[in-house]
Amino acid sequence: MADQNKIQDWNNSFADAAPEDVLTYFLNEFGDKIALSTSLGLEDQVLTHMVHSINRQTRIFTLDTGRLFPETYDLINRTSKKYEVPIQVYFPDRNEVEQMVAEKGINLFYDSIENRKLCCGIRKLKPLARALNGLEVWITGLRRDQSVTRNEVKIVEWDELNGLVKINPLINWSEQQVWDYIHQHVIPYNPLHKKGFASIGCQPCTRAILKGEDIRAGRWWWENPDTKECGLHQK
Ligand code: ADX
Ligand code: SF4
Repeated sequence: MADQNKIQDWNNSFADAAPEDVLTYFLNEFGDKIALSTSLGLEDQVLTHMVHSINRQTRIFTLDTGRLFPETYDLINRTSKKYEVPIQVYFPDRNEVEQMVAEKGINLFYDSIENRKLCCGIRKLKPLARALNGLEVWITGLRRDQSVTRNEVKIVEWDELNGLVKINPLINWSEQQVWDYIHQHVIPYNPLHKKGFASIGCQPCTRAILKGEDIRAGRWWWENPDTKECGLHQK
């Protein structure tokens, strides 16, 4: 069982560790009780590559909200083929989606923050809880400099909502380091990144950004930067 009291110690010992070392430790320690959660973003592609090089049995999953870009589906396919590993796809509950859409409309998220959070809750948070069920640790691609909402994030955290440890091995990496790794290892990535999409989520809630804009400026662009988390990464 992952011990909450060890989080501080882990953060101290891994403060300057390379992501591969952090992953090696946790993959060895937690075996089939650890999984990588990928949105197929750049950071997650780096982590897929690293995890695969360390232990190719590691479970990798993605949450298909039903509103992703076609390019993202294509990348799920390409990544799975390249690494010869399955990427488990979790879908939202059909009844919940149908009821939400019937009551609030197909594009409800533009109408209010409340609606947007409802949609993220049904399409992402609940499937995530299902994907994490039985795990002790989940791996994410969060980086501290992605946004103001993330500058306090640590390498190892306790995920209160889902009741397990969360590790963020790339937390200290810059965007440049991510790109360098992608190119150096010829890792497949979403072609939308070359069209100004820095951070990619659901199609209706993501747009390209202008030079100089914040990396996550294109996510839920109509909302205030302080509210722009879908809830996957709250404490
Ligand atoms: S989000 O919360 O705003 O959507 P972001 O796109 O920055 O998050 O991704 C941060 C991390 O959350 C990713 O590296 C990944 O680990 C996880 N994540 C986000 N979206 C998904 C998804 N659709 N499926 C699986 N994991 C995801
Ligand atoms: Fe719904 Fe947009 Fe959240 Fe995707 S990002 S789950 S479409 S509100």
